[in-house]
Amino acid sequence: MYKNDVLTGPISSITSLYLKNLKHTLIDFHRLDGIQYIPLAKRHSGLVAALLKPIMRLINRLNYDLVQVRKFDLRKRINGEDWPENAESMIGLKRMNNIQYCIEQIVKDNIEGDLIETGVWRGGASIFMKANLLVQGSQKRIFVCDSFEGLPRPTHKEDKGDIHYTHHQYLAVAQEQVAKNFQKYGLLDDNIIFKKGWFKDTMPSLRAEKFSLIRLDGDMYESTMDVLQNIYDNLSVGGYVIVDDWALPGCQKAVTDFRAERNLTEKLVTIDNIAVYWRKEK
Ligand SMILES: C[S@@+](CC[C@H](N)C(=O)[O-])C[C@H]1O[C@@H](n2cnc3c(N)ncnc32)[C@H](O)[C@@H]1O
Repeated sequence: MYKNDVLTGPISSITSLYLKNLKHTLIDFHRLDGIQYIPLAKRHSGLVAALLKPIMRLINRLNYDLVQVRKFDLRKRINGEDWPENAESMIGLKRMNNIQYCIEQIVKDNIEGDLIETGVWRGGASIFMKANLLVQGSQKRIFVCDSFEGLPRPTHKEDKGDIHYTHHQYLAVAQEQVAKNFQKYGLLDDNIIFKKGWFKDTMPSLRAEKFSLIRLDGDMYESTMDVLQNIYDNLSVGGYVIVDDWALPGCQKAVTDFRAERNLTEKLVTIDNIAVYWRKEK
């Protein structure tokens, strides 16, 4: 039972206790003191990093590290509004709850098709998708799609000035690391399909697949549009599109353009201050 999005009351089953603990862990919400330790080496690049290097080497040799101690804001974690240091997912609690809701409906209504997340970072949202399938006894596959090298430099006019690609140090997470994260939670199996590369190159190869859930989390216009144009037609009626980055202008424009092009009128449902979803009706 959630009150103001914080779990308060007793939990109804071991399954819901498992899912609750998992999602809290994946977003680093279980650390109720809200303290994170950020290695100094990760905070700096360029000249400062070069100057720090010999000092850090010496400190590390003595088995010490220099860290910045920063308290994080639990409200922001609930709403996925910060970039967490230790979490496997940055999407926050409300969007995790939304994943759980959509998968429960898909299984209950027997909606055909696999699940896909485009933009996985450390894998947390996809890991939670897998846990939900597991507890529902579903054999659906999950396509885990990313460059695993961060975001592309903007090329589309709607992405002009986008600087996500410069946050390479934080946003680029190797496929091997994401696989390890699945493994850490005991959730890596043959139904987890990794698709490495830019969406413009990988999405065309998925045109023959059938989907029940498309989770868009690529932040930019191009990274959203490339996915919708290639695979939206393969989403079953009754399936869901989750738009993690509705609050970002490039992503919102891509979704708005695509829906206008296709004359899609399904209601957009608000998840939190950033994300929306819709359920395909026709
Ligand atoms: C905000 S992060 C995803 C967050 C993640 N869903 C979570 O649970 O925390 C965005 C991810 O999208 C990937 N990405 C963005 N645009 C891409 C593109 N055009 N092709 C491939 N990967 C892309 C980045 O590499 C990054 O891992």
